[in-house]
Amino acid sequence: MALERTFSIIKPDATERNLTGAVNAVIEAAGLRIVAQKRIRMTRQQAETFYAVHKERPFFGELVDFMISAPVVVQVLEGENAIAKYREVMGATNPANAAEGTIRKQFAKSVGENSVHGSDAAETAAVEIAQFFSGNEIVG
Ligand code: PPS
Repeated sequence: MALERTFSIIKPDATERNLTGAVNAVIEAAGLRIVAQKRIRMTRQQAETFYAVHKERPFFGELVDFMISAPVVVQVLEGENAIAKYREVMGATNPANAAEGTIRKQFAKSVGENSVHGSDAAETAAVEIAQFFSGNEIVG
């Protein structure tokens, strides 16, 4: 299979506990290459745009407030089957349901403060990557 790219966010609960390196170690051990990465503070507008698909859900406001509460690390990950592989490495959205060894099982605090985001499909990965990175910032 050809190389694929996915978009990742290391969320505020993880950056605040200095877990960026620990999360990256799990990512790299899984065979995914970090081909772009930057630490940013998301604006409210960026977070609302990013999560627009969830805007009717009851937790939308809480989710946006959380994502702008502290810095995040946005990343592009590359590898074979990267989108599905990263979802597997992250574990279930709710850490109570996440498998042993996954990022969320090891580090997530709750279904909201769950340490990482990963794209769910090729179309969303392309849109999410383009929201935060220009082509020349991605070095494969
Ligand atoms: S998924 O993986 O998209 O099917 O998960 P889903 O349950 O649809 O959740 C989508 C994102 O919303 C976050 N979430 C919440 N935030 C705050 N409070 C509550 N209760 C809550 N439930 C879900 C969840 O962490 C997902 O974030 P991302 O960044 O997309 O993983």
